[in-house]
Amino acid sequence: MGKVIAIANQKGGVGKTTCAINLGGALASLGHEVLCLDLDPQANLTVGLGIDLNTVERSIADVLIDSNITLGSIIRPTKTKKVDVAPATLELSAAEVELFNAIGREMALRDKLSRDVVERYDYVLIDCPPTLGLLTLNALVAASGVIIPVQTQYYALKGVAALLKIIKTIRQSVKIGEAPTAGVPITVYEPKSDAAKSFVDLAKEVIGAHK
Ligand SMILES: Nc1ncnc2c1ncn2[C@@H]1O[C@H](COP(=O)(O)OP(=O)(O)OP(=O)(O)O)[C@@H](O)[C@H]1O
Ligand SMILES: [Mg+2]
Repeated sequence: MGKVIAIANQKGGVGKTTCAINLGGALASLGHEVLCLDLDPQANLTVGLGIDLNTVERSIADVLIDSNITLGSIIRPTKTKKVDVAPATLELSAAEVELFNAIGREMALRDKLSRDVVERYDYVLIDCPPTLGLLTLNALVAASGVIIPVQTQYYALKGVAALLKIIKTIRQSVKIGEAPTAGVPITVYEPKSDAAKSFVDLAKEVIGAHK
């Protein structure tokens, strides 16, 4: 599962925010340091952790669009011991639109989850909006695990299948970008990925043409 966990489902009102707040609280009660990161312009997580939105000067929106603003600089303590929050405000909607034109736009959050922030916490819980847009994509790219709260109804489960497909695609496209950091080709780093299989196919083509 890893320590950075996205809580996602494009369906609204299924309990994502409730899960982020209460899983966060439960982890803290067991002695873990938790960062709740609000990636939903509705800012329910921020409000639910007792933050007055009028007091939020800088939010995750600024972090995503301004390269000079670090994630660490917006983190605030909450009323709950061992639970900090990276707050969102309604401005996050506009930031998502702005981010759309940025290079590496799906990696914006991952790039901001710097080691010093991640090492400060045992768990980082990311509350996603009820869409499969750029914000959720950023959460999925940044996360090492995903929790998908679901309603146990037929149509709800169909939506989950679509989400799982996207997660699979993200993990693979992300993998080829990560491989150089590990200093090995994708065929070693993630041999089962589509990218590795494509390069093996290409290699076979090269070998075939050379014969
Ligand atoms: N396990 C649960 N049992 C009962 N009620 C719940 C549970 N989880 C969530 N709820 C209720 O369901 C409603 C929606 O929950 P929540 O806001 O957490 O969903 P969400 O997926 O974050 O919504 P959105 O998609 O709008 O962000 C709230 O009124 C919440 O109190
Ligand atoms: Mg929510």
